[in-house]
Amino acid sequence: MARHEELPIPVYSTLEPVYGDESQVEETQLRFDRLKSKFLDVFGHPPQFYARSPGRVNLIGEHIDYEGYSVLPMAIRQDTIVAIRKNDAEKLLRIANVSDKYSLCTYPADPTQDIDLKNHKWGHYFICGYKGYHEYAKSKGLDVGVPVGLDVMIDGTVPTGSGLSSSAALVCCSTIAIMATFDVNFPKKEIAQLTCECERHIGTQSGGMDQAISVMAKSGFAELIDFNPIRATDVQLPAGGSFVIAHSLAESQKAVTAATNYNNRVVECRLAAILLSIKLGMKPQEAISEVKTLSDVEGLCVSFAGRHGSSDPVLAVKELLSEEPYTAEDIEKIIEENLQSVFADSQSSLDVLKAATHYKLFQRASHVYAEAKRVYAFKDAVSSNISEEDKLKKLGDLMNESHYSCSVLYECSCPELEELVKVCRDNGALGARLTGAGWGGCAVALVKESIVPQFILNLKEQFYHSRIDKGVINKNDLGLYVFASKPSSGAAIFKFL
Ligand code: GLA
Repeated sequence: MARHEELPIPVYSTLEPVYGDESQVEETQLRFDRLKSKFLDVFGHPPQFYARSPGRVNLIGEHIDYEGYSVLPMAIRQDTIVAIRKNDAEKLLRIANVSDKYSLCTYPADPTQDIDLKNHKWGHYFICGYKGYHEYAKSKGLDVGVPVGLDVMIDGTVPTGSGLSSSAALVCCSTIAIMATFDVNFPKKEIAQLTCECERHIGTQSGGMDQAISVMAKSGFAELIDFNPIRATDVQLPAGGSFVIAHSLAESQKAVTAATNYNNRVVECRLAAILLSIKLGMKPQEAISEVKTLSDVEGLCVSFAGRHGSSDPVLAVKELLSEEPYTAEDIEKIIEENLQSVFADSQSSLDVLKAATHYKLFQRASHVYAEAKRVYAFKDAVSSNISEEDKLKKLGDLMNESHYSCSVLYECSCPELEELVKVCRDNGALGARLTGAGWGGCAVALVKESIVPQFILNLKEQFYHSRIDKGVINKNDLGLYVFASKPSSGAAIFKFL
């Protein structure tokens, strides 16, 4: 049987295969009906196809996908649905949303257009998919013909700025919907790769986790996602535990803060990798041209550790990098080149250099190597023979260690997330951590199934009530901000007969 990353996106004519097992079908049918009628209102004709792609929660393995390491997320129920129709009469991409919060965006039907990053618009994410599809189809030698207009209506339930990958859900289902209108379908792993690359048009140098899980998720399983090549391996979570997702209510704006936060860390990891490889014997020029990620230099670090009676690459980091932050000049002296020329081919990296005053290479590399190990420790604990109780405890401990590392070494937490994680632990979570890019967004807590309702009530009282009183959120929306989640299914195309 083909592995599921080899299969194309499934095409269904009913909602049940995707929404059935969560008795969500009725509610979702109303969503689809509303989407269709809004589509008719705005564009004057019904959609041809629908595509959906879910958000995700990452259970462990934070900020390591772009360094080439495996991660362990699961899809959540909240998703984005795109309704689409070709419109030959107008050579325009007209992108509407069922929510009044997002006004209609119009773009030319030119797949080579540049995205105006200075002027951030929600419709840009659709354009990422549009450009990505065309670039990919061209690279495969497919004839995409002359550009045609598309009418598009979107309905998303993944909260934005939550660290639950609303952007990947939108980019993935946009790409898949576009594929459907052009009557093509690719293996999921190719779509995961192409959507990861095309989301970079928005200016963040993201790894591939969010798109990979959104495209390849399977109901009932978390997935161990490997990169280069992309692969997904089912991970059956222990039955006695439940994952509760809770929003810190600090918005995480990955694209807007990229130069100082997300992309900054990508640059720091690259520099840490280059410095390590030079310290371990590579010539500076060779290191600059060959070494892109910390996984590229792990072998050298492990050999170094081996000579000191260990197998842990963190030992090399401890011995060879300085705990004090580096200035640009410190680094340039070691690599014998100026930083601008190392990153000359990447505008978003140059933006990082402009904004940075120092680089914490020791801390970032220590996090990445240790976090990469925790992913495997998590997976091994899940499949081990220890008692259910011990298993949950072990998973919780690993989540707590991951959070500590994100907070102290990677510095991607924020005061609201720290408070929320503490409230989770104080109320019986076996483990709790920030999830996704951080700097706001959600925490995920592992909680014994039997205490979930009480746990959520306590969070409401101890974290959310004061924020309701201050008017930060509306009481009626609480269910959007804190909920238990089971692993949901991945992307799908719907063509109703
Ligand atoms: C964002 C990115 C992912 C990943 C996480 C951090 O969600 O899109 O690729 O790097 O941050 O783990």
